[in-house]
Amino acid sequence: MSTGFSLTRTTRPVPEAERAAILAEPGFGRYFTDHMASAVWTAADGWQDRRIRPLEPFTLHPSAAVLHYAQEIFEGLKAYRHADGSVWLFRPEANARRFARSARRLALPELPEEDFLAGVMELVRADEPWVPAAGGEESLYLRPFMFASEAFLGVRPAAEVTYAVIAGPAGPYFPSGVTGVTLWVTTRYTRAARGGTGAAKCGGNYAGSLAAQIEAAEQGCDQVMYLDSEGEGKLEESGTMNLCLVTSDGRLLTPELGTILEGVTRDTILALAPGLGLTPEERTVTLEELRSGAADGTITEVFAAGTAAVVTPITGFKGEGYEFTIGDGSPGEQTMAIRRTVLDLQYGRAEDKHGWLRRVL
Ligand SMILES: Cc1ncc(COP(=O)(O)O)c(C=O)c1O
Repeated sequence: MSTGFSLTRTTRPVPEAERAAILAEPGFGRYFTDHMASAVWTAADGWQDRRIRPLEPFTLHPSAAVLHYAQEIFEGLKAYRHADGSVWLFRPEANARRFARSARRLALPELPEEDFLAGVMELVRADEPWVPAAGGEESLYLRPFMFASEAFLGVRPAAEVTYAVIAGPAGPYFPSGVTGVTLWVTTRYTRAARGGTGAAKCGGNYAGSLAAQIEAAEQGCDQVMYLDSEGEGKLEESGTMNLCLVTSDGRLLTPELGTILEGVTRDTILALAPGLGLTPEERTVTLEELRSGAADGTITEVFAAGTAAVVTPITGFKGEGYEFTIGDGSPGEQTMAIRRTVLDLQYGRAEDKHGWLRRVL
């Protein structure tokens, strides 16, 4: 069985002038490249039909299991262009491994790591002109995903599954400078329970988060902060980002793994922290500790970490009957230093001591 993805080029690429206009203002999640990667798995034959092919809609039977039982997972990573024109991925093996863990939790077949990497890299090569120029914070966002495409009704793991990767240019997350965001501490909704799917990157987790996101917006907040589902007031994470706190005695705190997503950015920051003079600590942090620390100045900065924004300063929190700011309510110095450090690595402006970059082109 071949592990290569065969390439069929589109005969109708987006015209160059149109692509240039898109790349001038790509936004996020609005435009897609000319090609996609795909492969199919069946219980009888395993993975097959690995292809890079023109981007096109799927044809699904209305009974396709994903539409009814949400057996679906996805990933998110970026390709970065360096100043010399080369194109690189950042820790794609970590995404491949998380994809395999998500697959196990959702009773989907595991995609071998070499297939995950080959599909992503071959797609970037086929769509090279779509990788934004170096110099800013633009990138090519890559979205691998896998879903139950078997046509049947019934609650059991699907015997036919489709894997695909699509890509689209992403503009700078903070086009007019990095600003702090506020989080709504929801007590009505939780994201994940012990034994649930919180640690998996499955679409269902995000469907369940939308009502909380609406609640946050109604409260005038940018995003949601989730607490544990057992009512113990333990911080979990934000809607699409992990949470980090900086203390006045130089520690970088982040909630331990379990029901949260194991973020690649979170892991990167934990590894970089000592070099920035911070001692990393993965442990339970309660809302009470956050509130009192913000009040007495022992918690000096809070930020969220994820592929999309890299690092987002959290400058304020709001919950039922209370509101508080972190520090003076503006993005913290350590937060901005961590942000710069990660970006410098991703864009090849700093030495890659950890061997995190993988060259594509
Ligand atoms: C729920 C959730 N937490 C955390 C993250 C951050 O993960 P990463 O740093 O791998 O992007 C994401 C984004 O993928 C997410 O969706």
